[in-house]
Amino acid sequence: MAAGAGDNPPLHPALEPLAFLLGTWRGEGEGGYPTIQSFKYGEEIKLWHSGKPVMAYAQKTWKAASGEPMHAESGYWRPKPDGSIEVVIAQSTGLAEVLKGTFDAEQKRVQLQSSLVGNASKVQAIGRLFEVEGKELKYTVDMATLTHELQPHLHAVLTKI
Ligand code: HEM
Repeated sequence: MAAGAGDNPPLHPALEPLAFLLGTWRGEGEGGYPTIQSFKYGEEIKLWHSGKPVMAYAQKTWKAASGEPMHAESGYWRPKPDGSIEVVIAQSTGLAEVLKGTFDAEQKRVQLQSSLVGNASKVQAIGRLFEVEGKELKYTVDMATLTHELQPHLHAVLTKI
C-alpha cells in the first residue's frame, strides 16, 4: 500500500530542535488594543509533521463566554539549521503573513517578526513570541497598524492535551 494519511513518519532531523512544540495545545487568551475593547477567548493550537523538514500549524479560537467561533489561522513553520526560522500564516480574516525570526531549543522559544503582511486594511507589522515552560505554551502577538506602533494585541497560555 502507498504511504499516506495515518502513517507515523519519523521526525525529520531539521524539526528535532522544535519537537517541544509538536502536539495539540488548548487554553485561554486575552486580546486588546488601544482602539478596541479587550476580550477573552479560548484557543486550540495544533502543530504536527509528515516527515518533511516543515511543521504544519493550525489554530482556532472561540469566545470565552459563549463558545462562538472567532479568528482562525493556519500555516507552515520552516526551521533552518542555523537557528533561523521562516513561518507563513493565512488568517481567516484574509490577511496573509510571512514571518522571520529565530528559535532557541534550550529556552524553548521562537521569536518572529513579519517580513510581509498582505491583504490587510490596517495591519502594518506583526511580532509573535512563543515560549514553552513545563507543560505550558505561552505566546504573545504584537501588531502595528496604520495608526498605532507595534504593541500587544494578544496573549495566551495553553496546555498540551
Ligand atoms: C481587532 C488584527 C488576531 C480578535 C483587530 C484589528 C486588527 C486586528 C487590525 C482592528 C484594530 C483597530 O481597529 O484599530 C489582528 C491580527 C491578528 C489578530 C493581525 C493575528 C496576528 C486575533 C485573534 C482574535 C482577534 C486570534 C480572537 C481570538 C479581535 C477582536 C477585535 C480585533 C475581537 C475587535 C473587534 C473587531 O475589530 O473585530 N485585530 N488580529 N484577533 N481582533 Fe484581531
